Amino acid sequence: MANVDVDDLRSEGPSNWREFLILTSGSLQTLKWVWAHFAGSEGRSRVKSMAVWMLPNTAFKLLPFLAIGRLVTAVQEQDTPVARVATIGFFLSLVLMELTGNRIRAHREKALAACAVQIDKRLSELFFHHGIGQFLSEGSRLSAANVEKARGRVWSVMDLMMFEGIAALMDIGLAYVLVWLLSPRSGLVMTGLFVIHAFFSVYMSGRVMRDGVPIDREYRAHNVYRTDRWSLFRRVIMAGRVREEIDYMTEWMARISRKDNGLWLWFNDQISIRGVVMSVFFSLCVWWEVTCAFQGILAVASMVPLFSWSYNLFMNFWRLGHMERQLNWNMPSVQAMVVALTIPTDVPVKADALQVLPNGPLGIELRDVSYAYPSETSPTELVPVLSHVNLVIPPGCKVGLVGETGSGKSTIGNLLLRFMDPTSGAILVNGYNLRDLDLSSYCRAIGDIPQHPEILEGTLRDNVLYNVPLADRAAFSDADVWSVLAKVQLADHKRFTNGLDTRLGKNGMKLSGGQRQRLAIASAIIQHLRFVVIDEATSALDAKTERRVQKGIEAMLGENTTALMIAHRLPTLRFCDMIVILRPASSLAPGESQIEYVATSLEDAYAHSPTFRGFADELGMAF
Ligand SMILES: Nc1ncnc2c1ncn2[C@@H]1O[C@H](COP(=O)(O)OP(=O)(O)O)[C@@H](O)[C@H]1O
Ligand SMILES: [Mg+2]
Repeated sequence: MANVDVDDLRSEGPSNWREFLILTSGSLQTLKWVWAHFAGSEGRSRVKSMAVWMLPNTAFKLLPFLAIGRLVTAVQEQDTPVARVATIGFFLSLVLMELTGNRIRAHREKALAACAVQIDKRLSELFFHHGIGQFLSEGSRLSAANVEKARGRVWSVMDLMMFEGIAALMDIGLAYVLVWLLSPRSGLVMTGLFVIHAFFSVYMSGRVMRDGVPIDREYRAHNVYRTDRWSLFRRVIMAGRVREEIDYMTEWMARISRKDNGLWLWFNDQISIRGVVMSVFFSLCVWWEVTCAFQGILAVASMVPLFSWSYNLFMNFWRLGHMERQLNWNMPSVQAMVVALTIPTDVPVKADALQVLPNGPLGIELRDVSYAYPSETSPTELVPVLSHVNLVIPPGCKVGLVGETGSGKSTIGNLLLRFMDPTSGAILVNGYNLRDLDLSSYCRAIGDIPQHPEILEGTLRDNVLYNVPLADRAAFSDADVWSVLAKVQLADHKRFTNGLDTRLGKNGMKLSGGQRQRLAIASAIIQHLRFVVIDEATSALDAKTERRVQKGIEAMLGENTTALMIAHRLPTLRFCDMIVILRPASSLAPGESQIEYVATSLEDAYAHSPTFRGFADELGMAF
């Protein structure tokens, strides 16, 4: 069999029968995956119990027709005792149907509750399992908007599969066996109806997959676009483009919707055609049985159950068709989500990973580190950004990193924060390979002050204490929190009118840029930091605010903290023990090191690094 990439088929849709079969089996795999991950052990055992109760329930649903058949003949034959027994049988069946139905509904409710918890938990686990670098590079697939949309679809698929599906299959199975028992003629015709149904299903699903998959892809793209514009409302409103954006998104949505609608109208017509064809066969079958009854081959008492059961079967085919439509509609989103969430993590945590303990400054070493990003135009091609970088940062050392924009400074910072792993070479932390360390414990021991700090929806206290594990929060009194805020000159009791309970607004909207930066520093230093990466944290601030933030930074950098500070404003590196000057990997002559010079002071850097001198001269500074 030639190699067919199922992911490709999923995004393009099948173009022939073989591809359709591959995709169909892929859909079954997806259902299995959904069941395995989202039902949870509690949900699974509930569903199994429910299935066990469904069998007698289905039987009690079908048996009353047997009693009615007996009643009809009892009336014909004026046989009161038989009529009485049949009525009692009728009554018992109904009551037992109700009682078993009660058990089914109870298990169903419990299964739903268990699944609700499990879906949320598992989605979060799968979502956060990726490296930060992956979120940045796979943003279109690994987006919260896509996962959130598919979450609802997962619900529908599970509901169809676990509740409707099992019930319909049981109804069909039992009714089919009973019809065969009463009349093999009807059994045979029902088999024929099933074949007709299946034939149409395969034909219709093929078209739905071919046309529906690209439509779903457009829906998802639209969803990502809309979510992006909603969250960046400020830009949209300030650009005066609200009307244009709404018109654009509405027109786009209308276009997708038209295509989608066309497909389902076609599907609807096919269902009707199939229904009419099956009705013809079914009616002929009824007539056949009636002629048999005329000839005495079929007992009159059997006619009621036979017609009722086969009608039940017929209606369940219709129910199956409805489920197929639902499944087809939900499947592309669910599959896209499964594909996104199962992208293997690029920062795998080993089972025997070493815990990082919270004391002493860390010594960091980049040993022959190279890193390349996938090229935008062809993902198999890599664009080298770091090339064989060697650097030793002794424990407690404050390193300033200087270089042109695009030379790879942030990439070094990101590698040290383990957003991703080096393409080759290794990062050593106190002599241990960073890949062998437990990521969460490493993250708790280190700090990250980015250029754009992320403030959580919540209070001032929530934000300062966020980096502290819940179990350790009790150790921090309000006075402790205020004293940390004082270190970064943010203990402004007048500004925070509700004290530590002051709400900061979405992404800290109620704070100035400098305040946001200082808050980020406060939340980083509330715990002892063994190593911190500060990436252009002050470059967006005015000179006065920058000095205040810089003071905050220096306040946190005691001798127990190792630091890598990336900065454009050279004077902010004054306190550094070591200045590293980086040049772009693309500009290197053969054999040349990407690190142009390692200086011990700004004066040393100015004297020996042409790049550094260039920056300083541009700024009109001499050291
Ligand atoms: N997620 C990414 N995907 C692809 N290329 C990237 C990504 N991040 C950075 N780059 C590229 O890598 C190079 C180095 O970027 P960066 O480390 O941010 O440089 P610096 O911080 O020195 O300005 C730049 O050319 C940038 O465009
Ligand atoms: Mg940068």
